[in-house]
Amino acid sequence: MTFKKSAIGIALGATLLGAGFTSAIAAEPTIRELAKERGRFIGTILNSEWFNDDIEPEFEEIHKTQFNVVVAENEMKFDATEPAENEFNFTKGDKMVEYAKANKIRVRGHALAWHSQVAAWVSSNYAGQKEKLLAVLKNHIEKVVGHYKGQVAEWDVVNEAINDEYNADWRSSGSVWYEGIGAEFLDSAFVWAHKADPNAELCYNDYSLEWGLREGSKASFVVEQVKRWKKNGIPITCVGTQTHIEIAHETTPQNVRALAKAFAELGVTLNITELDIGFPKGESGKLTAADYAKQGHLYRQFMDVFLEEPNMGEFVIWGLTDAHSWLDEQQGKTEGLLYDKQYKPKPAYDSIMVSLKEHPAANVVSPYSDIEIVDPIDTTGTDSTDVGDSTIAVRTVAGLAGSLSMHVSGHTLFIAGAKAAKVDVFDMQGRSVFSGKCEKGFVELNGIPEGLYVARVRSGSASLAKRIAIK
Ligand code: G3I
Repeated sequence: MTFKKSAIGIALGATLLGAGFTSAIAAEPTIRELAKERGRFIGTILNSEWFNDDIEPEFEEIHKTQFNVVVAENEMKFDATEPAENEFNFTKGDKMVEYAKANKIRVRGHALAWHSQVAAWVSSNYAGQKEKLLAVLKNHIEKVVGHYKGQVAEWDVVNEAINDEYNADWRSSGSVWYEGIGAEFLDSAFVWAHKADPNAELCYNDYSLEWGLREGSKASFVVEQVKRWKKNGIPITCVGTQTHIEIAHETTPQNVRALAKAFAELGVTLNITELDIGFPKGESGKLTAADYAKQGHLYRQFMDVFLEEPNMGEFVIWGLTDAHSWLDEQQGKTEGLLYDKQYKPKPAYDSIMVSLKEHPAANVVSPYSDIEIVDPIDTTGTDSTDVGDSTIAVRTVAGLAGSLSMHVSGHTLFIAGAKAAKVDVFDMQGRSVFSGKCEKGFVELNGIPEGLYVARVRSGSASLAKRIAIK
């Protein structure tokens, strides 16, 4: 079915202006511009209606203008990608990846091993058969992650594997994977995903983590598991806190901050992966300006935490417009998103913008050292050291870097993979702040103020450029 333009569509011009959409007319930056400057990703899902070409045209216009990370609401889940045994359907996932490429948007993959939305054939053919189930899950992960290798930046490898009891433990009923395999399916899933795409970020994702660290809580359980996984060499790199909350849940932003700090100690990124802040459905039609302001205040607190914690990378909202949200359909909640049913930005949108503006790029650390910064000049792989005085652009081109690698600690830049290398460091406006040779495996960048920079290392024909944070 194709969406027929309704009265909603007619409001397009006015609402987009409010969102800082038409840059020629409105000078306001977009969320994605401010996110990009800060080395972060802020995004939302593509609703199932988008995949079915059954959504208002302003949905995509706003989506690609305002956001730089995307997730499929349902189309990369098991039942969508492997509806029959070993018969894969990537049509809708491919559609999203193409869209993301065309609009320079990062892709999250959701979700590989989950008890829900598993194709019916898995249980009917193999329930309780450990070896068979292991083979099914391995094949699924290899084929799906392999298909999207290099195109999906991050996967929810395991989703919602913890139960809802007061004392958290693995979800032992209602999960074909746990019931048939046991907890080892989790470890294996990460190993298979890493093998299929060694460069992808791999997350454990769950809800109710925002209820905080306390004995027996889901959040504490995940922290303990991540410790164990890291100790055992399981290739987990990130945790996702879904964060489906209500307007009354005022303590949750600070709980997420505490969680970020706990994962920072383990060298793991924390992402907000499915945020929505709903009102009870019964209040629909009775909500006041003060209610929307309160919702905005909560969104802002989450954004503040996100920008202030150095190991947070992605801030994803589970929906763009209140016109299309699982909250109304399945949750008895309503109006939890940034845009109202007419695609008009709500106070929540403004609050997020305020937070971004009050956290200048120089103060926000990116957890992604090899983030791609494009536009307007690509210096990598050329001999030119003249990067002009506009924003530097760096693209790490596969193959060019050879065995070169680098990381920074304090003011010391460590370089591996070359006996001698030429090192240049530029500020975010592209001005050279350091130029020299590295012959001992490191160079001291003393005298460079704390902040974000781009370091470029060249040795022979190999060239590597990365964003670095000097702290
Ligand atoms: O595809 C069928 C369609 O063939 C059928 O005609 C129709 C009739 O109901 O149902 C369609 O499937 C629905 C599917 O969404 C696709 O639209 C399911 O009934 C419905 O249950 C399913 O809901 C999704 C839900 O996950 C399922 O668990 C929501 O759209 C989606 O927003 C939601 O997303 C989850 C995350 O993946 C994980 N975290 C929680 C989050 C919210 O529940």
